[in-house]
Amino acid sequence: MNKVKKGVISCLLMGLLLCQLPAAEPEGDRLKDLAEPLGLFIGFSAPTNFYSMSDTIVYQEVAASEFNIVTPENAMKLDAICPTQNNYNFGPSDRLVQFARAHGMQVHGHTLIWYSAQPNWLVNIHSRDQLLSAMNNVIDVILGHFAGQILLWDVVNEAFNENGSYRSNFWLNVIGEDYIDHAFQYCRQADPAVKLIYNDYNIAEINQKSDGVYNMIESMIFRGIPIDGIGFQMHITDAGIDYQNFADNMARFAALGLEIYITEMDVRIPIIYTESDLNNQAEIYRQVIERCVDQPACKAIQFWGIPDKYSWITSVFPESGFPLLFDDDYNAKPAYYAVQQALACAGSVSTPVPRKLGDVNGDDTINIIDALLTAQFYVGLNPDGFIASRADVNCDGNIDILDALLIARHFVGLIDSFSYEH
Ligand code: G3I
Repeated sequence: MNKVKKGVISCLLMGLLLCQLPAAEPEGDRLKDLAEPLGLFIGFSAPTNFYSMSDTIVYQEVAASEFNIVTPENAMKLDAICPTQNNYNFGPSDRLVQFARAHGMQVHGHTLIWYSAQPNWLVNIHSRDQLLSAMNNVIDVILGHFAGQILLWDVVNEAFNENGSYRSNFWLNVIGEDYIDHAFQYCRQADPAVKLIYNDYNIAEINQKSDGVYNMIESMIFRGIPIDGIGFQMHITDAGIDYQNFADNMARFAALGLEIYITEMDVRIPIIYTESDLNNQAEIYRQVIERCVDQPACKAIQFWGIPDKYSWITSVFPESGFPLLFDDDYNAKPAYYAVQQALACAGSVSTPVPRKLGDVNGDDTINIIDALLTAQFYVGLNPDGFIASRADVNCDGNIDILDALLIARHFVGLIDSFSYEH
């Protein structure tokens, strides 16, 4: 090989190496190291081709060092994973699950029953029985495939309109409102261990839409339909949200015994932005993270991507962009440092002494007797040996039938902790 050719090859290799060089590591602690002692998951969504992108080395390095949970942005949606009937494409999702396992991360399954990203073969089923059977079948196959490898599934996604009514979609139109009950029941049957979540946007504050979701979930719980948590997507604008309202909304969902997951957070700013826009964005992130760490039922904060350049935002909102914690070159933005600081400050507050919530007769077990004693107290009886301070398991200030129900669910293994227990 002559010198010129060698030089050209060296330059190309150097170029390749340069674009794969690790980004400058942010100052301070990594986010997952701050979140883990708080019992919090901190995560990101990954593109389907995360492993073959031109900058995959730096992408994977930042992902592995900062986060402890990952959501596939698109790879597990039904149109991607089951494009034609009985034909499953698990390749990209398996690759992500392997990546997560190799780096000690949890996986958040996203998403099964939705109005969007559904394959034509499903959308074209017009009989209730056939559609329920198809739903049951895809859930069995997909949850069976990933059993033991996924922490939680978004079972139903975005089923509500802004006014709190059910959103029209082929599931609703062909099956009826009980399509949601069936989806959760099929998931519990397919994988009894995985957590089951309802996920939606514009429901982080108390409004007509979150009222609709709240009423549905409350009814599901009273009717014995399995559901473990609520996902607040939190795709928000630079106007931010009402943070006290957000905290109040989390409190009412926590009082139902649910876990709360911030599932898809991003904060979009103008496409032509200033330093002040970046600082405003950082402040919005800080406020949201602070409210989450203050709420024991809030279990995860997941961002909808890592660097700004791979975000979905500008393709849908052309005047907005740059919604994430890292810039296009993987440098940490002010938003990153705001999240870091909110987590670090929470870690410096001493953890409350654990209470034996639910063990209302003080015999060191939480069983059906505790549920019965709580129910007796609720109906006005004053049972012997009843330790009232341990009965308000959802910490909403009342000892009522919901507490008895939660203790009973704990006894039969449907939940393994109470929302407010640290
Ligand atoms: O599948 C085709 C692929 O074959 C083709 O090569 C490619 C070329 O453009 O398009 C591919 O489909 C795109 C898909 O992303 C995968 O890249 C769709 O056109 C595009 O609409 C789709 O957008 C995703 C969108 O959900 C719809 O599924 C976004 O990336 C994703 O960020 C967005 O995420 C949603 C959550 O799932 C639910 N909550 C809201 C959030 C933002 O919309």
